[in-house]
Amino acid sequence: MEFDFKGASVFVAGGTSGINLGIAESYARAGAKVAVMSRNADRVAGAVKQLQAHGGQVLGTVGDVRDQAQVRLAMQQAHAAHGDFDVLVSGAAGNFLCPAQDLSSNGFKVVVDIDLIGTFHVMRTGFDFARKPGASFINISAPQSAFPSAMQVHVCAAKAGLDQVMRVLALEWGEHGIRVNSISPGPIENTGGINKLVDAKKMSDIKQRIPMRRMGTTEDIGHMALFLGSPMASYITGAYIPVDGGIALLGGRSYAGDPVATPREDARQGANA
Ligand code: COA
Ligand code: NAP
Repeated sequence: MEFDFKGASVFVAGGTSGINLGIAESYARAGAKVAVMSRNADRVAGAVKQLQAHGGQVLGTVGDVRDQAQVRLAMQQAHAAHGDFDVLVSGAAGNFLCPAQDLSSNGFKVVVDIDLIGTFHVMRTGFDFARKPGASFINISAPQSAFPSAMQVHVCAAKAGLDQVMRVLALEWGEHGIRVNSISPGPIENTGGINKLVDAKKMSDIKQRIPMRRMGTTEDIGHMALFLGSPMASYITGAYIPVDGGIALLGGRSYAGDPVATPREDARQGANA
């Protein structure tokens, strides 16, 4: 079905690649004015060009979600150009596989800084620029929030924290007419995350472990983001929503389907990518 977001203002933090760019593109295609922000200037420029192909207003800003002042600057510019945010997406994240005993304090911290504190910066600052009532705030979570995943202690901690932030903000901001939810994607093809965590030659094994027997697409996540931004979702808040072909049904390592796989092998095969 087609969603119509003509005139809506959408801000996507980390919206220049992969899943987040897919969400930005879904909204651009539906007629929204879209603003994206990330660290790398070339990536921002590339995303802006791609989004402009849909004919609407697009703004790209260079910034790091770890720095709240940079988030505020990007949002001020987007707000001045596009108006109150109807939809705000926090999707920036970092990931790498590392056994806990080899992970430095800074290695743990860098992921918490991006995924958890960065999301707080985006949500908290976004509150000041949001349409009230009416805005929809969307966090991009991951299965690691719910299921322990070997070699990803940093990611599991950060994503679990992010979902508690989502729930508390949903509690507090309901009275302002702001809904706050998380989408938890399964393994999504052609994204930075999946390419980083899963060996290319293991990709077909992963498909066999997913109940729907296919990888997800950025469009699959874009569709859920459009739904959450639409009036059809106007009574949904505080929800953690898997869009994962059914992998959440199997839980943590069990969905790998291989009871003798070591946790390390499991993680390398992207069980919770
Ligand atoms: N294994 C173990 N530790 C690692 C690591 C790895 N593969 N990669 C980085 N680290 C550690 C570093 O050693 C450093 O710790 P130290 O100071 O104790 O040595 C710490 O993490 C910070 O690394 P740094 O490279 O300075 O961080 P950064 O800010 O430049 O990059 C990352 C952040 C590491 C998360 C980087 O991968 C990134 O920017 N990722 C964004 C894209 C992405 O991951 N997409 C997937 C989304 S699911
Ligand atoms: P990706 O392709 O690597 O894209 C990450 C984006 O975030 C890039 O645009 C990057 O741009 C930006 N970014 C990274 N660090 C940033 C920072 N500090 N400040 C601002 N922007 C930053 O990632 P992806 O795989 O699509 O993942 C997107 C989201 O989905 C993440 O939250 C991830 O945890 C989640 N997820 C992914 C999968 C999957 O299968 N891929 C599965 C479950 C959940 P710059 O480099 O220019 O900053």
